[in-house]
Amino acid sequence: MNETLKVIRNRRSIRKYKAEQITDSDLHDIFEAAIYAPSAMNQQKWHFTVIQDKSMLDRMVAIIKENIIKAGIAFLLEKANTPEYNTFYNSPTVILISADEKANYVDFDCGLAAQNITLAAESKNIGSCVIASSGFLFASEKGNGLKKVLGIPDGYKYICTIALGYKDENPAAPPRNKDVINYV
Ligand SMILES: Cc1cc2nc3c(=O)[nH]c(=O)nc-3n(C[C@H](O)[C@H](O)[C@H](O)COP(=O)(O)O)c2cc1C
Repeated sequence: MNETLKVIRNRRSIRKYKAEQITDSDLHDIFEAAIYAPSAMNQQKWHFTVIQDKSMLDRMVAIIKENIIKAGIAFLLEKANTPEYNTFYNSPTVILISADEKANYVDFDCGLAAQNITLAAESKNIGSCVIASSGFLFASEKGNGLKKVLGIPDGYKYICTIALGYKDENPAAPPRNKDVINYV
């Protein structure tokens, strides 16, 4: 297996992180990978917000928790109701991806950028987890009020977040369904 295939194979969603911050130089390389993802018509209508301020991350988690509890979605509720709940698993860096709500195919574009981020991180032994439940941040006025301070451009919609940090666990890969390909 070549290095690229090894990185793809070894990447896991990490849900336990060390407190130590990743370096700016690693973060820079990770964003180089993100912006070299393909995008429809090379539109590049994505935006990346890096959040490393613990008080901001705690504020976001508190709002997400509040909104999950309000929404009452069973499988999320169970987790959110525990005292140790943290949407981002206490990762020291979180990237929030947003995209122009008027552009076509931006969800694909951002998914590809997100994958480049997770693979670039893995290539540097940095753990990551794509997180969609963070979308509950914007389920209330309080959360939407953070859009400005997070620097989400006007007219851009939330896509997902990615937790990043040094791994404090080494989970096995969840099983893969191999019966999903047919050849014609
Ligand atoms: C669009 C998307 C949303 C996800 N949302 C969450 C999430 O909210 N919380 C979480 O812990 N993991 C989340 N994950 C991670 C998946 O659970 C994980 O990728 C899957 O179980 C396979 O495990 P692996 O990434 O280790 O291969 C998400 C992954 C994707 C692609």
